[in-house]
Amino acid sequence: MADRIVAPKSDIARVSHVSSFAQYERLYQAALTDPAQFWSECAQRVTWFHPFDCVTSQNFAKAEVAWFLGGKLNASFNCVDRHLATRGDQTAVLWVGDEPGTYRHISYRELHEQVCRLANVLRAYGVNKGDRVCIYLPMIPDAVYAMLACARIGAVHSVVFAGFSAQSLRDRIVDADCRVVLTANEGMRGGKTIPLKQTVDEAIANLPVHTVLVSQRTEAMVPMRVGRDRWLADEMPKQRAYCPVEWMDSEDALFVLYTSGSTGKPKGQLHTTGGYLVYAAYTHELVFDWRPGDIHFCAADVGWVTGHSYIVYGPLCNGATTVLFESTPLYPDASRYWQVIDDIQATIFYTAPTALRALLRFGDEPVKKYQRTSLRVLGSVGEPINPEVWQWYHDVVGDKRCAVVDTWWQTETGGILISALPGATPCKPGSATFPLPGVQPVLVDEQGKELLGNGVSGNLCLASSWPGQARTILNDHARFQQTYFAMYPGLYFTGDGCRRDEDGYYWITGRVDDVLNVAGHRLGTAEIESALVSHAYCAEAAVVGFPHELKGQGIYAYVIAGKSADGVSTADIVAALKQAVRKVISPIATPDRIQVVAGLPKTRSGKIMRRILRKIAEGNYGELGDITTLAEPAVVEQIVQGHQAAKWPTG
Ligand code: PRX
Repeated sequence: MADRIVAPKSDIARVSHVSSFAQYERLYQAALTDPAQFWSECAQRVTWFHPFDCVTSQNFAKAEVAWFLGGKLNASFNCVDRHLATRGDQTAVLWVGDEPGTYRHISYRELHEQVCRLANVLRAYGVNKGDRVCIYLPMIPDAVYAMLACARIGAVHSVVFAGFSAQSLRDRIVDADCRVVLTANEGMRGGKTIPLKQTVDEAIANLPVHTVLVSQRTEAMVPMRVGRDRWLADEMPKQRAYCPVEWMDSEDALFVLYTSGSTGKPKGQLHTTGGYLVYAAYTHELVFDWRPGDIHFCAADVGWVTGHSYIVYGPLCNGATTVLFESTPLYPDASRYWQVIDDIQATIFYTAPTALRALLRFGDEPVKKYQRTSLRVLGSVGEPINPEVWQWYHDVVGDKRCAVVDTWWQTETGGILISALPGATPCKPGSATFPLPGVQPVLVDEQGKELLGNGVSGNLCLASSWPGQARTILNDHARFQQTYFAMYPGLYFTGDGCRRDEDGYYWITGRVDDVLNVAGHRLGTAEIESALVSHAYCAEAAVVGFPHELKGQGIYAYVIAGKSADGVSTADIVAALKQAVRKVISPIATPDRIQVVAGLPKTRSGKIMRRILRKIAEGNYGELGDITTLAEPAVVEQIVQGHQAAKWPTG
């Protein structure tokens, strides 16, 4: 059956930056024919203190790319100062607090003052250009000030999602060698308080962190260690409301952001200043069809790359009003997003399929209670969006009036690479559609042979660099080279599978490596396994994903109990192991299902056959394939029986 095609709306197209598919194709062709010219023009959207003299240099064999070489700029200047003359009184950050009805408008002028004061606080506590600063803050304006304050003085921020455990936070602080940490006494989310300062105290015990700057989000008193911990509210007023900006080289580091890979240790993706900022601004304008007056509501957290690129850097570089949403889609009820959208007259809304799936369960009524007439563009990110959910987003949330853009990208890519454009692209629900101008996707088979033409499926790679590409993994360039450039020489490998259909539309099919995408959160199976075996009840673990109605993928753990678990009930083992994962990583990594097994299917060389475990977790016992090569084929039967006996709900 032919896929349904949803044409761009004519009233959106009329005023869009890219207003027809033919125009998109022309742009795409222009970027392909003369990339240097295309990106050089694109780079003019940021203010350079000194122009670049070379657009790009790329060597995928060595995993070395650079953009806008010789150029000097500052991301904080671009996101704040340069708007003061024309937009000083416009709202830069519109903070939506956890409690319904809590709004705070921060103008560009105020943003400038706060960023400057905080930058001066950082300087006063010894932060210099190139130093790494850890930001473990909830969704409050201080988080935005902190990122831009770092950028202002050339410090490299490492934002850690405020849902990570003390252990995860500690690992990231150690890896980046941060000496200064910003946090809050507590966070507020969905009516609950989150003890952030306490987590920081635990995380930095015996580390050389000399300064902890604490925002006061709630009334709660927290222990403050004399000489180390300081309230931001005391420190900022002491500082000048002006701080000069550091002239950064285009290739100087802007931030590091940790993400999970197929091995245990999270990877610190390093992004640099010029290329990242140009790419965030370019994609924000094109994909969301941003124009002056828009209220841009990206519901992500600043702890993820989506928050970096589409709450902070892209929108603010373009002079937009960007929304900082502290709450959850379900607090106090399933109408929260739509109520906020009406209250603030948001024109652009960007969220993850997981949130939409959760809301869809409540039906149309919570949506229809609100007008949503301000909306024009609806975006989706983080995981494949099921065609039914896409359709609901379009028909119900967008009243068949709004453009829906499914945006594919990664922490490593810095910004969106494959997406529809609101006024130009006929959409197929469930497909991210086409690459942006300047982006060259390639599909390859297992042997690395390029799959040409349409109607093909393979591994998704990129044939050449784009400005937003991560430059390295902090402290581990060899791993960067190995992970992304070694598998298919001459190409960047994304880790995703993808189909290019008969009409050339791209359909992302999910990860092909040992990475899970759980409720839009990226988690390595190895990371979860190592958290499980950190508990004495677990001798060995193998983690795979399984289809989950709400989260897209759920986490299925097969564990072999350790000696210390002798005599302990299965229920207690399972509870203890879930708790261990919450503590070591974060509640977001808690396995949905844990099956205690006597053995794991291994090849004779000792490699765990995850393919088999995945099939069992899905309940596809008939598709286990050849198991005769296993060291002990009998374990498979036992595992199948255990899975059946557990009677997991389907779906
Ligand atoms: O598997 C893809 C999936 O999320 C991965 C990247 O995760 P992360 O680095 O955490 O960044 C998420 C936000 C950009 C990708 O390798 N992914 C992201 N967007 C989509 C997607 N899968 C399908 N469709 C998307 N639109």
